[in-house]
Amino acid sequence: MSERVIPLVDQRIASRPATLPSVPIAATGLLGDQLGRPLRDLRISVTDRCNFRCSYCMPKEVFDKDYPYLPHSALLSFEEITRLARQFVAHGVQKIRLTGGEPLLRKNVEILIEQLAALRTVEGKPLDITLTTNGSLLERKAALLKAAGLQRVTVSLDGLDDTVFRAMNDVDYPVADVLRGIEAAQAAGLGPIKVNMVVKRGTNDHEILPMARHFKGTGIVLRFIEYMDVGATNGWRMDEVMPSADVVKHLHSELPLVQLAPSAPGETAERWGYADAHGQHDVAAGEIGVISSVTQAFCRDCNRARLSTEGKLYLCLFANEGHDLKPLVRANATDEQLASAIAAIWHRRSDRYSELRASLPPDASTGGRRVEMSYIGG
Ligand code: GTP
Ligand code: 5AD
Ligand code: SF4
Ligand code: SF4
Repeated sequence: MSERVIPLVDQRIASRPATLPSVPIAATGLLGDQLGRPLRDLRISVTDRCNFRCSYCMPKEVFDKDYPYLPHSALLSFEEITRLARQFVAHGVQKIRLTGGEPLLRKNVEILIEQLAALRTVEGKPLDITLTTNGSLLERKAALLKAAGLQRVTVSLDGLDDTVFRAMNDVDYPVADVLRGIEAAQAAGLGPIKVNMVVKRGTNDHEILPMARHFKGTGIVLRFIEYMDVGATNGWRMDEVMPSADVVKHLHSELPLVQLAPSAPGETAERWGYADAHGQHDVAAGEIGVISSVTQAFCRDCNRARLSTEGKLYLCLFANEGHDLKPLVRANATDEQLASAIAAIWHRRSDRYSELRASLPPDASTGGRRVEMSYIGG
């Protein structure tokens, strides 16, 4: 077994200021990158802070009291975020996900949601506005978020057993609070609710079946996520990854499954429905998803862009450089200029990290300085 190496590095890495192309590029909703991939999904991180310390994301050893979180002055204001989001939407974005860190820690985040909910897609439709949360503040905030225009939430939950859950979040946070948060989200109508479980072999893989049994038939879609080598601090090792194929096999032995067709192009999750006695999908029992970013990369159709809390645009979860839009925003660039700068960046995009990683030997170190997921969001 190889030794765990956790480099102590600041996650804020190189970025280059976004520039204006010499010939302006108008927003037509038809933007394509070097691989012909459109821009459909914008993930906006609203804080780099979190009240949990999941070892795969914000390990305690690195994210301690001395960690240099972004100062308030570095954050984009809600008006700046909305203004940028409007340009992304003009380029074809249909879904906006708020992330963090923990997005519900950003003060008055519901005001931002209200502003984003007023935007319309190129076709004049409302956006799909969602949020990824650890659920700790959901019980308190679910109704407020719904009233602001949030459509749905995705809750991270890595196990039902209280001891396992407390160990995974590493701040001794009880699972009952998160379960109450999920109930509050359901009661508020923030659905379809998804629950994301990162599976670490040897840590919480014994929670796969209890989680499936718990959420089966509730209308909540449970998704099992392969533990990824994202960032540079989680000491990732291939032997801790549980391939989705194994997750499906394990579930299928007790809860028979049938594969379902994708519901949207470029989707992260492969969908499996619970089977009835005839081997057909039992719609009332619902479905699960598996997200196989390590063993079966889905870069081919990746239509996701990520905007950091301080206005840097990342074209891949594994990028080592962002494109800083804040200087343009703060230099009073016009909307057309902002849209043009975003288009020029997306035009040049050729990222497909997970596909390239899959061609490396399993234990190869991908090393290097990479942005942390708590900084650009999941
Ligand atoms: P839905 O619209 O609700 O289906 O959301 P989604 O699956 O697009 O987004 P979500 O943030 O819930 O993604 C779940 C997990 O998939 C993330 O937490 C990541 O672990 C992983 N993931 C999401 N997007 C990407 C991506 O672009 N690349 C890779 N490698 N992993 C991703
Ligand atoms: N591997 C896979 N998913 C991760 N997330 C954070 N770190 C990782 C990782 N190393 C995702 C989880 C979590 C969301 C906030 O980010 O899905 O639910
Ligand atoms: Fe916080 Fe989510 Fe990261 Fe856990 S995975 S540390 S809850 S941002
Ligand atoms: Fe997209 Fe990068 Fe993830 Fe591939 S690794 S799916 S390009 S974000």
